[in-house]
Amino acid sequence: MKYVLGIDIGTSGTKTALFDETGTCVASYTGEYPLSQPANGWAEQAPADWWQATVDGIQSVLKSSHTPIGDIKGVGLSGQMHGLVLLDAQGEVLRPCIIWADQRTGAEVEDMERLIGRQTIIDITANPPMTGFTAAKILWVKKHEPKIWEKVRHILLPKDYIRYKLTGTFVSDVSDASGMQLMNVAARDWSPEILALLDISPLLLPELVESQEVSGRVHEAAAATTGLLEGTVVVGGAGDNAAAAIGTGVYRPGKAFTTIGSSAVVYTVTDAPQIDPDGRVHTLCASVPGKWTLMSCTQAAGLSLKWLRDTLCQEEVTQAKAEGVDPYEIMTRLAAAVPPGANRLLYLPYLMGERSPYLDPNARGVFFGLSAIHTKADLIRSVLEGVAFSQRQCVDVFRDNQADIDDMIITGGGGRSSLWRQMLADLYNTPVRTLQTDQGGALGAAILAGVGSGLFASIEEACEKLIHYNPAQAADTAAHDQYEPYFELYKDLYTQLSPAFDRLAAL
Ligand code: XUL
Repeated sequence: MKYVLGIDIGTSGTKTALFDETGTCVASYTGEYPLSQPANGWAEQAPADWWQATVDGIQSVLKSSHTPIGDIKGVGLSGQMHGLVLLDAQGEVLRPCIIWADQRTGAEVEDMERLIGRQTIIDITANPPMTGFTAAKILWVKKHEPKIWEKVRHILLPKDYIRYKLTGTFVSDVSDASGMQLMNVAARDWSPEILALLDISPLLLPELVESQEVSGRVHEAAAATTGLLEGTVVVGGAGDNAAAAIGTGVYRPGKAFTTIGSSAVVYTVTDAPQIDPDGRVHTLCASVPGKWTLMSCTQAAGLSLKWLRDTLCQEEVTQAKAEGVDPYEIMTRLAAAVPPGANRLLYLPYLMGERSPYLDPNARGVFFGLSAIHTKADLIRSVLEGVAFSQRQCVDVFRDNQADIDDMIITGGGGRSSLWRQMLADLYNTPVRTLQTDQGGALGAAILAGVGSGLFASIEEACEKLIHYNPAQAADTAAHDQYEPYFELYKDLYTQLSPAFDRLAAL
């Protein structure tokens, strides 16, 4: 039996999972770490935490599975997108990573528009200039931390830092790198024009490969630290959503997934770059050669529920401990008893600003319609519904762009909740499916490693062979009709509050 290892560097933790050649997970380990928010709208993490979680994960799966390391054919990496990791000439980390959720770069987005022009940015990078993407973060460091910038010799994305620690190579893959806003997305390569106008030397950037291509091999020191065999192949891998696409079998147009993790993403595949004229969703390179994606991102999805758990649900956390279950299970049990519309309470999930379908770093979360009759159960239900409304809005943008979806898979931590899944089915008014075994990005990364190391002939073949779905969960048309007026109101609230968000940010 041969094996492949998938490592997914997420926002709340890193999941390391070992799969055999039939796609069965034989061992997995998740190491968690904190998120630091030094100011309102900022979000940072320590790359050393990701590396420690990776080392712990590899050691743990090797130990618990007793797999002979020579049978592990390759390693695939998946990771949170858009983060900025800066290294000096010695390969040391210069400052904490400014991660995807960070929204400090409003002024730098304006700088980008001035230096390059909005339409040129869209024409080349396939997206309007964005606070969440990496380019604006680079400009922020250049402007605010010039002493650090002077020392920068390598710019990497989160998973590519782990690759550097494993192999010593500076490489990224096109799916993740296209979220840096420095690429010509149609050409699947760095854009000399964008780099010149932003005054970023191409020498600082990693080499680009396709997701299944070999990017390096585990070196002696990493082999000694992790227990992997020196020389084990590490493939390009993918941004977490593009890796989840492989792990959910979304490799062709028509198929799509909704994932609810810290963020929520709706993702589908296209045969050519297709750009939403209003920039409401992103266009990036897919993890399948010759394919692109339309992808939305709701910044605070699971993050909203986690925030509610940590600030208001201590009782449920204690009860969960006593029952030996996840606190979210107790919370969703409460929400399930509340009718659609949460007794006339709406939640706007903008705790970390927003990206899809509104590019607005100043947007902030709102409970609308709070009344003295409301209970914690209503608050929880309205958070779940607010996140689901945001996904529906994004699916409507896909529909506007003629990206028709005939198969919607639900995945991610939030997708484990049947209540949340049903809300999505009801709001989309389509059936949704789940995976028989949901290993998300880690399985996607491992499949890419299997293709790159010759274990599988192609991504398509591996997906067909390894990914199996549960029967579809149907939409409830009565619930759909009940949600519609709330959904209309939800959309109006942003429009009406948008100027107020700007005033709040200016205080
Ligand atoms: C996608 C995005 C998030 C992160 C989360 O554009 O920013 O989904 O990748 O890990």
